[in-house]
Amino acid sequence: MTRIAPSLLSANFARLGEEVQNVLASGADWIHFDVMDNHYVPNLTVGPLVCEAIRPLTKTPIDVHLMVTPVDRLIGDFLKAGADVITFHPEASAHIDRSLALIRDGGAKAGLVFNPATPLYYLDHVMDRLDVVLLMSVNPGFGGQKFIPGTFDKLAAARARLDAYAQKSGRQILLEIDGGVTVDNIAAIARAGADTFVAGSAVFGAGRDDDPHRYDSIIARLRAELAAVGA
Ligand code: DX5
Ligand code: ZN
Repeated sequence: MTRIAPSLLSANFARLGEEVQNVLASGADWIHFDVMDNHYVPNLTVGPLVCEAIRPLTKTPIDVHLMVTPVDRLIGDFLKAGADVITFHPEASAHIDRSLALIRDGGAKAGLVFNPATPLYYLDHVMDRLDVVLLMSVNPGFGGQKFIPGTFDKLAAARARLDAYAQKSGRQILLEIDGGVTVDNIAAIARAGADTFVAGSAVFGAGRDDDPHRYDSIIARLRAELAAVGA
């Protein structure tokens, strides 16, 4: 079971509701929602108001990726705005365990995000608090960057940890990848262990602006690549 999560970062913000509806009609499983604060990352995007505005459009999970510091205050705001999944970067939180608990206590799925150079040891003492592990395959802040090849080994290492944990606990934690995912590399990324795939520019860059079905073919091609490797 795999999930494709188009990142709204590359959507047309002047027609955001339409973009969400079109990408869902084309078969997206999650909506990936990138929150940047011009502090933790050098870019500024959207906050809880925009999440709240798109929430009534769908029951599909909204996957909020917080690239902000401090973290905790915004967790409450995004819970109220209807987020289903909330992930944050461990370096951005002074109290990782508390931030994860805040998300879970608010009824959402909780996850940690690992930058390309962030070690996986942040997982050591929080596995029971996690629903998702998100590996960045680019440095966070911008869409349209190239996938960093070193992420393949890191994915395999994360997969091994999550499998060992699943054996012990009976609980499956999702392994999500974010950055530079395309039709050309998604199969290799799945083979390395990912089960949830964020794709921004690859999806929203596809097709003609006036065609409501313009995302059908890109999402079908991403899925076909996954199916070809049995994912
Ligand atoms: C980058 C964001 C990503 C970004 C991915 O900081 O977290 O979600 O939108 O965009 P692409 O798929 O274009 O690399
Ligand atoms: Zn993201």
